[in-house]
Parts: sequence; structure tokens; C-alpha cells
Amino acid sequence: MARLSVAVLISGRGSNLQALIDACGDPAFPAEIRLVISNEPAAQGLARAERARIPIRVVGHKQFPDRASFDAALDRALNEAGIELVCLAGFMRMLGDAFVTRWRDRMMNIHPSLLPAFKGLKTHERVLAAGARFTGCTVHFVRPAMDDGPIIVQSAVAVLPGDDAARLAERVLAEEHKAYPLALRLVAQGRVTVREERVEISGAIAPAPTALINPSG
Ligand code: GRF
Repeated sequence: MARLSVAVLISGRGSNLQALIDACGDPAFPAEIRLVISNEPAAQGLARAERARIPIRVVGHKQFPDRASFDAALDRALNEAGIELVCLAGFMRMLGDAFVTRWRDRMMNIHPSLLPAFKGLKTHERVLAAGARFTGCTVHFVRPAMDDGPIIVQSAVAVLPGDDAARLAERVLAEEHKAYPLALRLVAQGRVTVREERVEISGAIAPAPTALINPSG
């Protein structure tokens, strides 16, 4: 069966990109990364793509007079490469409504909180400041509003006594690296449907009905 053609858009480190590269390295995985685009020429993630022999494009936002022309350049690059699904992975530019609408339900993002809580930047600092006992990560389809859209996969992480933002970020990131490949696999298998802005996953195995309690005991 043909594998789904995926582009990953990054701005920096690219550890989620690496998790997706690793997943797609299995020939049985139903998706293939055919293009990595960065808006930052110095993004570390570009080297990860090169090592994996994935074509890269730098679309520097500073070269464009406005968002619409930047978005149009992205769209051209994606279409030229025959991309079917876009994965935002630490991509730090807001995309315009027209672009988001064109890629509706064909563009995902990963965010380091349990959405809809803690949208935006500095999530771990804000989780700690709020005294929340759980956080986590979310993979969702992209809508025009920031960190908004139907939720595909979430993973919860307990906040532990003595956590600082760096320690918490590290544990959440480890979950991101599992959640994103899982979401990509489900979408590429054609098991994900959006109905009334909620995701339905066909054939999902119901987890044991359980609750996490934090703190324990
Ligand atoms: C991740 O925490 C992701 O959830 C957020 O930006 C960070 C990107 O990290 N959107 P990396 O570039 O994938 O290492």
C-alpha cells in the first residue's frame, strides 16, 4: 500500500521531527516524510532531516513582505512535493486562515500541555505556577486559532514535588515523542475522522477504565 506523503514543518531543535523520522524508518509504517521545511535557516532539525536523506527547504519568513506571501510559498513547496499531510513540530509561525483552511484536517500540531488548558508559550512554567497536578501533551488538527482544533492523541504526565520547568519539560517531551508517531500512524491508516469538531478513531482499543491520582497515598 502507498505510504502517506508527509511534510514536517520546524523552527528549531527538531526532536519531534526525529521521533517521526524514526517511526517512518520502519517500512511497515504507513507514512513517509518526503519534505522538511524550516522558516529558520539555522534550525538544528534540518541536520536531522539531512542525516535521514529527507529533502529540506528553508522558507525564511523574513524574505516575505507579509504572512499571505509566506503562506503561499509554503503551500507551493508542499504541493510541488506532492504532500498529503502536514505535521507542525515546533513550528513557531502562526499560519493564516486561508492556508489553515486549505489544509483543514490534513495538518496536525503537537503542543506541550493537555489542551484546551495552557495554550501558548511557556506552558510548563504556567502549569507549575497554577499548581496543576497533571499536564501532558496533545496532538491535534490545526484550526486558525492558536493551539486549537480537534484532539487526536493526548498523554498525561504527573507534576511531581520538586519539579521545575526543565524537569517537567523533559518528561513531557518523552511523551511527545510517543504521542506524535501514534497520531501520525492513526491518521495515515485512515482511522481518524473529524465529526462535529471531535475526533473519532476507528478500531481504537478502549483502555482499562482507570483514574490516575496525584499525589498518591
Ligand atoms: C515541543 O515541546 C512541541 O510540543 C512544541 O515545541 C517543542 C518543539 O520541540 N510545539 P522540538 O523542536 O520538536 O524538539
